Amino acid sequence: MLTSMNNKLKAGSFLPFGAGSRICPGADLAKLEISILLHYFLLNYNLKRINPGGPIVYLPLPRPLDNCLAEIIKEEQVEIIKRRPSSQKGLTLNEIRQMQYLSKAIDETLRRSSISFSIFRKAEVDVKINDYIIPKGWKVLVWNRAVHMDSETFPNPEEFLTSRWENHTPKAGSFIPFGAGSKICPGADLAKLEMYIFLHYFLLNYRFERINPGSPIQYLTSPRPKDNCLAKIIKQHH
Ligand code: HEM
Repeated sequence: MLTSMNNKLKAGSFLPFGAGSRICPGADLAKLEISILLHYFLLNYNLKRINPGGPIVYLPLPRPLDNCLAEIIKEEQVEIIKRRPSSQKGLTLNEIRQMQYLSKAIDETLRRSSISFSIFRKAEVDVKINDYIIPKGWKVLVWNRAVHMDSETFPNPEEFLTSRWENHTPKAGSFIPFGAGSKICPGADLAKLEMYIFLHYFLLNYRFERINPGSPIQYLTSPRPKDNCLAKIIKQHH
């Protein structure tokens, strides 16, 4: 429970990233990524317990209603575990490649709530785009968030709909959560891999309860509940 984490911990009593001179140098980055992911995940999903008498599995329910696909997302994770040979320990890359529906949920989250709402460029030469000229030396601000809200590419863009990714390959430049061109984010694949791994274990082993489910949403710098999605995260014991 989160409340127990508020107590001050004795040095050496909590070592998820090791300790001393060999402490994991990626600790802050990993925690930041987990926070960002949880933040958007909690913002876009509610959890509902299914099969109350049986093993505890929680189903993500995207908001607004997209329940049918949410059912498939959960089924996908359960099916992956069912197919797993008993000798196999943990998740494999091959299994991650089979997570087609989770992939849609991640893309929709990145579209709707990407942390990067804009990127900057400087014109090295005069550039002609359509009927516009961007003179050499001018700075350009690309507003990713507006690109992701273009209703020609994403009908009803304000809605969180994983189903929009069914048979949809975005045109070049229409989906740019990691930027574009030669400066594109080199951590994109790593970030997405971490999302799959984290969500796989989170969905199957944890549940959360928002403290203020009715908290209003604020949009700057990115869409999120005003209470920063304060929630209790509870481990399930199977
Ligand atoms: C959800 C997670 C992430 C998002 C949304 C994201 C997004 C972005 C965006 C939009 C850019 C600017 C790209 C451009 O100008 O076209 C960028 C640059 C960059 N990102 Fe990420 N990123 C994420 C995770 C990561 C991770 C995990 C790493 C490293 C392990 C990373 C390393 C970098 C670096 C080094 C750059 C600068 C690239 C350059 O200037 O050439 N990012 N990222």
